[in-house]
Amino acid sequence: MPSTGQRLPDPALVVLVGASGSGKSTWAEQRYRREETVSSDALRGVLGSGPHDLDASDDAFSVLETVVAARVGRGLTTVVDTLGLDQERRERWLGLARAAGLPAAAVLFDVPERECRRRNAARDRPVPALVLGGQLRRVSEVAAALADEGWDLVVEYDGGEAAATATAATPRPAPEADRRSSQGLRIMLQLSRFPWGEDPAAWLREVALAADAAGFAGLALMDHLIQIPQVDRAWEPIPEPWVSLGLLAGLDTRLQLGTLVTPATFRPAGITAKAAATGRG
Ligand code: UTP
Ligand code: MG
Repeated sequence: MPSTGQRLPDPALVVLVGASGSGKSTWAEQRYRREETVSSDALRGVLGSGPHDLDASDDAFSVLETVVAARVGRGLTTVVDTLGLDQERRERWLGLARAAGLPAAAVLFDVPERECRRRNAARDRPVPALVLGGQLRRVSEVAAALADEGWDLVVEYDGGEAAATATAATPRPAPEADRRSSQGLRIMLQLSRFPWGEDPAAWLREVALAADAAGFAGLALMDHLIQIPQVDRAWEPIPEPWVSLGLLAGLDTRLQLGTLVTPATFRPAGITAKAAATGRG
């Protein structure tokens, strides 16, 4: 999710919410593989005469529900590209994600009304102005409701560059059950480069909290005295890992902490053992 500023967990259920022309499909195309997105418009195109064939809506949504349930049930990333305004459907999708242990995110396309109307007017087949007005009102109502629906993450996207911000003050850390991939793996974040500017401790804290919120199972540091050539130039920063892990152990996260490898010859063995035991305590 490079340009949104808010990284979503992966795999995850991602439900898009926004009026016609708010940029949902464009957003999904830029970030996900085509197979990961289930679009009611695309299914109208498959089951009817085209994406705008409303007569095919029932069939399209019936297939959409089947696809969402099957993918989510297998723990696969699933982006649901519909208007997202139907609460009953949102609740059903969220329930599927919960049952599968997948993190669930809602992405709200809160694009200014004028911009939405401008984009709509520029389309080959604009939605009637009255219909769009109704959708925009519904989006505002849904925006207010999302926070109480139980999503792990609600991300707001206003259509600009790097425009997404988490609407929840702090994204809720993914529950323990979510910390396995669809293959049952626990994914650790390996930090190897440390562009921390003037405040190394703040940078480390921020990265660890973001990793926790994103659902990583843990965080691992390398144990080198100077930066290694495979990563960066020798004089670039690299922290002493056990001191750094001690700092991160004081944070309120569920991350497992450790080194990738610790050379036994760097320190007296008792000191290494004591540092590791202190971090665990
Ligand atoms: P989308 O087709 O992505 O909107 O963009 P949508 O939310 O999925 O709309 P519906 O619900 O399926 O009807 C609508 C138009 O806006 C342009 C796209 O190129 C498209 O023509 N767009 C989208 C922008 O100009 N800028 C953006 O950031 C996103
Ligand atoms: Mg679309």
